[in-house]
Amino acid sequence: MKYLKKQPWEIDENQVTPENLFLNRRNFLKLGAAGLLSSASVIEALANTDLNFNDLKFIKDNNPNNLKLNTFEQITSHNNFYEFTTNQAKVKDVAKGMNTKNWMIEIDGLVEKPIFISFDDLVKKFDIYERIYRFRCVEGWSMVVPWNGFLLKDLIKYCKPLSSAKYVEFETLFDEDIFPDQKSRFLAAIKYPYVEGLRMDEAMNDLSMMAIGLYGKNMPPQNGAPIRLIVPWKYGFKSIKSISKITFTDKQPLNTWQEQNPREYGFYANVNPEVDHPRWSQAKERVLGSFLKQKTLMFNGYENEVAHLYKGMDLRKYF
Ligand code: MTE
Repeated sequence: MKYLKKQPWEIDENQVTPENLFLNRRNFLKLGAAGLLSSASVIEALANTDLNFNDLKFIKDNNPNNLKLNTFEQITSHNNFYEFTTNQAKVKDVAKGMNTKNWMIEIDGLVEKPIFISFDDLVKKFDIYERIYRFRCVEGWSMVVPWNGFLLKDLIKYCKPLSSAKYVEFETLFDEDIFPDQKSRFLAAIKYPYVEGLRMDEAMNDLSMMAIGLYGKNMPPQNGAPIRLIVPWKYGFKSIKSISKITFTDKQPLNTWQEQNPREYGFYANVNPEVDHPRWSQAKERVLGSFLKQKTLMFNGYENEVAHLYKGMDLRKYF
């Protein structure tokens, strides 16, 4: 069964302005006419979206945080995806038409049995959730995104890692026909394939998700089609895109940005307004589409859910 679950810490739907709702316009008008968003009508409307959540459960509550979702346009027009280009405004154009047909995912390392599975088959195995998360880039911009996907902990259970597995490592596909910058070899912006990793307890945390869409649509190429990681309490570079390989290991992975510049980027990359980047303050952030900056929250606002993972650790050292 594919259905959507909502957790108490999730930002409420009431913060969504009508045009920002993840329903398409026609469906929204249909719902608007009904006056109230009953779960039955939302289910009906969402059945017509790309992701085809057939028996979606959706409950509209009050908005305790009074946060506002970024628009689909904002989320998909300012991107970091170096495999396409380092020009954030142009990623969407360069990535347009990205071929994700027959996308395969390899799962290996410290697992009972390696798995080689198509993206299409993999997604059928899990419950699909909506998760509305804050997303904070290390560069100082942020957004609020309604992601769709499955929980990383559910994927991990499916992979059957051995007890010796202490970390999960992720790799972006290396395919020069898809990603132009991978062709640039010595002149490439960064070393490819892009690599990221999580400690096993971080990966098993309820917040960690494998996103396959946003606003009820399949993941746009520029946001990491067809499948990417989302770890909302960490800087955005941890949220690796277009994943084709997952490896369980007993060694801490050397993630791409740490390898690029270990003085500036670490393995943990937890959002922390008190630990500045060597070249800029992390105390504030600019939400995409806003002029004024707002205060950055400890663990990006998810302190209650994740602070225990780092108990006793010096967060200046483990940055
Ligand atoms: N994943 C890959 N493969 N390549 C990248 O360049 N950029 C990272 C992360 N994942 C990146 C990546 C960075 S720096 C950020 S901030 C987020 O993707 C941006 O995600 P978005 O474009 O969906 O906002």
